[in-house]
Amino acid sequence: MTNTESSLFGVRFVGSGSAVPDRVLTNIDLAQMVDTTDEWIASRTGIRARHIADGDEDSVANLAAQAGQKAIAAAGLTPQDIDLIILSTSTSDDLFGTAGRVQQILGAERAVAFDLVAACSGFVFGLVTASQYIRTGVYKNVLLIGADVLSRWVDWEDRRTCILFGDGAGAVVLQASSEIKPENNLLGFEMRSDGKGNNLLNINYSGRSTFEPISMNGQEVYRFAVRRVPEVIEKSLHYANLEIHDLDWLILHQANQRIIDAVVNRLDCDPAKAVSNMGKYGNTSAASIPIALDEWVQAGKIQPDHLIAIAGFGAGLSWGSAVFRWG
Ligand code: COA
Repeated sequence: MTNTESSLFGVRFVGSGSAVPDRVLTNIDLAQMVDTTDEWIASRTGIRARHIADGDEDSVANLAAQAGQKAIAAAGLTPQDIDLIILSTSTSDDLFGTAGRVQQILGAERAVAFDLVAACSGFVFGLVTASQYIRTGVYKNVLLIGADVLSRWVDWEDRRTCILFGDGAGAVVLQASSEIKPENNLLGFEMRSDGKGNNLLNINYSGRSTFEPISMNGQEVYRFAVRRVPEVIEKSLHYANLEIHDLDWLILHQANQRIIDAVVNRLDCDPAKAVSNMGKYGNTSAASIPIALDEWVQAGKIQPDHLIAIAGFGAGLSWGSAVFRWG
């Protein structure tokens, strides 16, 4: 049985958008701040630059709203058409949630809005969550946004972590299928978590009305990703009744080029199909998959009816994959 075959309404993917702060921090800039080099960072991670939030302008709410606005326009809709906004973020402007601010900025008055926290799996988990409301006929137009400003929580003196992360937001509009276009384009998915690895990647509450900076066991997280991500991609391909070579694009969470290369290798995927833009953006957490998706859509590389697998992985530990047809 597939994850998606028994209900009435299909899920369609009708628009994307993204936004990043203007300020760029290169590896060369970082080498002035901590004991590192462009060569070390680029060869170990594939990252050469990242966009970093600069003041209130680049709040999670503002970046998310910019990405959301573009996705709504690309879908040919207005904010008033949106029924549900899911904001996947782990770096909320407000511990009570940021989705309400996004709703307000967008003027999406009819929508209900809430945050979803699943670290770098946030976009995949958000996609699966959004799809449930569509499949059951509850909502028609859903705006799903992945947005994170991890630069707020980075220890800029810790060379093991500060080189990895960047800020940004990406969004898609998901729409219930109609009689004119009855297809269900979300073809399969798999979500997983394992709390035994919870201590490997954290932004812990420090007990003083604030949080500690990001702490990470890089080697263990690397091992986890390379082992677990291929499994969920294979599972969602299985539910979709597809094989790896059927895909047009594979969009992994943009954490490390070596992780992408290893996963591609394990899956025996054509490397040319593996989307990569982390060289410019670093790891933008829940935003990385939709930013990459939007960049490939804008460039005309992703075309209607292309088959795409996405996979996110990160803190929790959490990981997941979805296979869908664009359009
Ligand atoms: N510049 C120069 N040297 C650095 C450095 C930096 N920015 N960061 C660490 N080093 C040093 C270490 O101090 C260590 O030196 P030592 O051997 O003298 O102690 C050496 O490089 C190797 O460190 P190590 O941590 O073993 O490196 P690594 O090959 O595992 O690479 C990561 C580190 C973080 C790039 C890698 O582990 C990784 O990408 N992990 C996955 C992280 C991730 O993707 N997290 C987000 C998931 S959502």
